[in-house]
Amino acid sequence: MPELASRQHVEAIVPVLDEALDRAGCALGDIDAVAVTTGPGLAGALLVGANAAKAIAYARDIPLLAVNHLEGHIYAAWLATAPSGEEAPPPRFPVLCLIVSGGHTDLVLMAGHGRYRRLGETADDAAGEAFDKVARLLGLGFPGGPAIERLVAGATPALRLPRARLARPYDFSFSGLKTKVLRLVRGEEGPAPAPPELAAAFQEAVVDALVTKAIAAARDHAAREIVLVGGVAANSALRAALVERSPVRVRIPPPALCTDNGAMIAACGWWRLRASEAAGPDVDVQPGLRIG
Ligand code: KG4
Ligand code: ZN
Repeated sequence: MPELASRQHVEAIVPVLDEALDRAGCALGDIDAVAVTTGPGLAGALLVGANAAKAIAYARDIPLLAVNHLEGHIYAAWLATAPSGEEAPPPRFPVLCLIVSGGHTDLVLMAGHGRYRRLGETADDAAGEAFDKVARLLGLGFPGGPAIERLVAGATPALRLPRARLARPYDFSFSGLKTKVLRLVRGEEGPAPAPPELAAAFQEAVVDALVTKAIAAARDHAAREIVLVGGVAANSALRAALVERSPVRVRIPPPALCTDNGAMIAACGWWRLRASEAAGPDVDVQPGLRIG
């Protein structure tokens, strides 16, 4: 409900800014630049953030940085990596990025800061969307990813679910998998498997598709590292499988920085600032923004 979402943004923006500054122990006067998400997303919600950012940048006369939400997810990989807050070593390009969220499943080759080429995407549902839909089929709550992960804990897959075959080697498809789960839940293919074992089979199929294609893309494009980002990157089976199978270094943000957060937008803005790529005061939102 876009209208409700933008109203809630209007109500939340000032309290959220106050709380963020408070927790960081600083005031607006200590801020050197403002980074803001300009897309993709709901226009009304994006406008609230963009206008607040413009106002702060104008009032304080500091740079304003326009950040693509998907690019923000990628930059979470170069925030502090360890719980100790240890600084992450800088990226070694080319980097193969697997962005898996509720709205996107993209394989992107990053040749340098701000230089992206999209190699693959989903033909239908995003990976997170598939987790959410299958969770609903199994009577679990939202968001579905963490609910499925909890249900699976220790369960063995009931069967091997089919992997989609697509014309383009780095594309994904998850809607067939979801339909297959639906048929199994309804008992249309014999007695329905127990939910934990069925969920395990679903998670295994998604993880296998994501990891296999990411590794193939990394190898074919001589990537020096792989970053796994976006909400679904919080999934521990996916994290473990990628680390185990990848021939190159793998970077995955801690789970709290995988799901949507403001720190990742700031991280992207920080690299942008270093490259002197501040936006002018006329920055606008782009609801349908893509990457690469
Ligand atoms: O990146 P994100 O927080 O928001 C978007 O930009 O979409 O991603 C949200 C998605 C949801 O679909 C949610 O089910 C999924 O990430 N997700 C997970 C896990 N945690 C969140 N999927 C699988 N396993 C998880 N642990
Ligand atoms: Zn996101």
